[in-house]
Amino acid sequence: MITGKTNVFGIIGDPVEHSLSPGMHNAAFNSIGLDHIYVPFKVKTEELEDAINGARAMGIRGLNVTIPHKTEVIKYLDYLDIAAGLIGAVNTIEFGENGAIGHNTDGVGAIRAIEDFTPVKEKKIMVLGAGGAARAIAFQLLLSEAESLVISNRTIEKAQELKDDLIEKLDQEVIITDLGIDLEKELEDTDILINTTPIGMYPHITHKPLVTADMMHKDLIVNDIVYNPLRTGLIMEAEKAGAKTISGIKMLMYQGIESFRIWTGIEPPIDVFQSALLKEMNLEKF
Ligand SMILES: NC(=O)c1ccc[n+]([C@@H]2O[C@H](COP(=O)([O-])OP(=O)(O)OC[C@H]3O[C@@H](n4cnc5c(N)ncnc54)[C@H](OP(=O)(O)O)[C@@H]3O)[C@@H](O)[C@H]2O)c1
Repeated sequence: MITGKTNVFGIIGDPVEHSLSPGMHNAAFNSIGLDHIYVPFKVKTEELEDAINGARAMGIRGLNVTIPHKTEVIKYLDYLDIAAGLIGAVNTIEFGENGAIGHNTDGVGAIRAIEDFTPVKEKKIMVLGAGGAARAIAFQLLLSEAESLVISNRTIEKAQELKDDLIEKLDQEVIITDLGIDLEKELEDTDILINTTPIGMYPHITHKPLVTADMMHKDLIVNDIVYNPLRTGLIMEAEKAGAKTISGIKMLMYQGIESFRIWTGIEPPIDVFQSALLKEMNLEKF
């Protein structure tokens, strides 16, 4: 029951109608018996500042932030944690007595998803794409002591920008390639491949993946962060090559779990998050 004591959390973005986060967080709040509720709020770009000030004024306790506000929202916060400061984007806000703190759980969520299978420490990892998700994941991979990082992107200048930023802030060497022959060469001794491009995402599910089975080896671990559909073209190619696969739904789940932990101080039951996601997506397993 919602009362005057109920703590309000939510997600701001545009669009938010199809967000899977309310289902996950409300299920977890209920399962632990917390008097909390999580609500989606559609916020237009020109109303972002008002929305953050309104959230402060109304005593909202925490917000997730999604497209298109992850970078812009920083202007309206008081502090950033280390990851959010390095990445330059926020997906979780914690409102407390000292003000509004911005966090980024996308990178750490992606790494937790991979580390269900294998540690990233001392691995060679290739990231396809150099956009917002690639940025969060690349910074977190280097913070997690990945041995070497290859960023392969269609627009090489964008890969170069990300590389320059990684070197400037973390002082670590990064290899960049376009999508041609150098990508294939680097892939030969890569341990983990992460796709952060939208290729294969619904409704374009038949678009040819950037990496196909003939370019993969069987010890490769392939993580596609696209989760709609769960089995993307890239995941099917990895299966053909006998490689291990990780669905993007796990990153979504773990970034939510990390936000929950920031807001409540409690590590929520993973099975509750997982069942809530399955229910939202009408699936039996992932
Ligand atoms: N599982 C999760 O929790 C999770 C979290 C965040 C995002 N995602 C998914 O990740 C994907 C990317 O999100 P984002 O925010 O990083 O997007 P973004 O900032 O727009 O970046 C997209 C990247 O993909 C590349 N790309 C796009 N279309 C391409 C094509 N046809 N061929 C080759 N490269 C292409 C772009 O290359 P250029 O630089 O050449 O344009 C860019 O590097 C989306 O599908 C999103 O749904 C999943």
